[in-house]
Amino acid sequence: MSRIAYVNGRYLPRERAKISVEDRGFQFADGVYEVCEVREGSIVDERRHMARLDRSLNALHIARPMSPAALAVVMRETIARNRVRDGIVYVEITRGAARRDFPFPANTKPTLVVTARGNDLSRLEQLAADGVAVVTVPDIRWGRVDIKTVALLPNVLAKQQAREQGAREAWLVDEQGRITEGASSNAWIVARDGKIVTRPLGQDILPGITRSVVLDVIKAQGLAVEERAFTLEEAYAAREAFITSASQIVLPVVRIDGRPVGNGAPGLIAAALRRDYHRHAEIS
Ligand code: PDD
Repeated sequence: MSRIAYVNGRYLPRERAKISVEDRGFQFADGVYEVCEVREGSIVDERRHMARLDRSLNALHIARPMSPAALAVVMRETIARNRVRDGIVYVEITRGAARRDFPFPANTKPTLVVTARGNDLSRLEQLAADGVAVVTVPDIRWGRVDIKTVALLPNVLAKQQAREQGAREAWLVDEQGRITEGASSNAWIVARDGKIVTRPLGQDILPGITRSVVLDVIKAQGLAVEERAFTLEEAYAAREAFITSASQIVLPVVRIDGRPVGNGAPGLIAAALRRDYHRHAEIS
């Protein structure tokens, strides 16, 4: 079965789906995106993802290419045409195609691309059971990473370095030696005092949707949480560590820069948060 992509009003086999060479997403990374989990054919946390998409568009003054209701239909149609049961749906909106010039072009229609693909659930479950390794790299990104733009080159380089060092994720470290977040996930530890710690929202991290739902799960479980920046030293000394993102939910981190976290096995808190996640998420 050929994979289908939605591009500016048409559903096409992926090989025939094209955008302009003058697209500003291609030339300037002038675009935003969202990734939602698809579970048993339904979209997880769609309302929160779409609210963040609106926030990203507003921050960059990019017009909405279609109404929220129409986009919801296109996302479902793309999921259905690709026969995705468990996986992700990807939405990208750029400022559109125009003669290359830095300022915003006038009267340009935004580009909308929607794709969907399945995930190997058994592999994800294996990663959850085994835990993953992370390595740390300096955070060299721009000052507004709270906007979910497609300008992901520092994230790509960090992730590549992680892969070359045998790790699944890179944790980005700010100039004060504190973790900001992962290259494509939010970062968490369970500190020595038993409190769950994650960096507070600000312009220096993406406001993860999974992060926000995990905070709800933590409250429902009556666990202690502190939203504050934590240092690399604290992370090395943590009882547990884990990452969150829409495509992976909660994955335990068992090694940071080659050092075991806690006893080197996945932690109980990460496992409990992963187990209860979908009872707190909105599934539509
Ligand atoms: N990445 N931080 C960064 C830098 C991210 O790219 C992501 C998501 C997250 C987690 O956000 P959420 O919980 O809303 O998925 C945090 C997506 C999945 C990606 O680029 O594939």
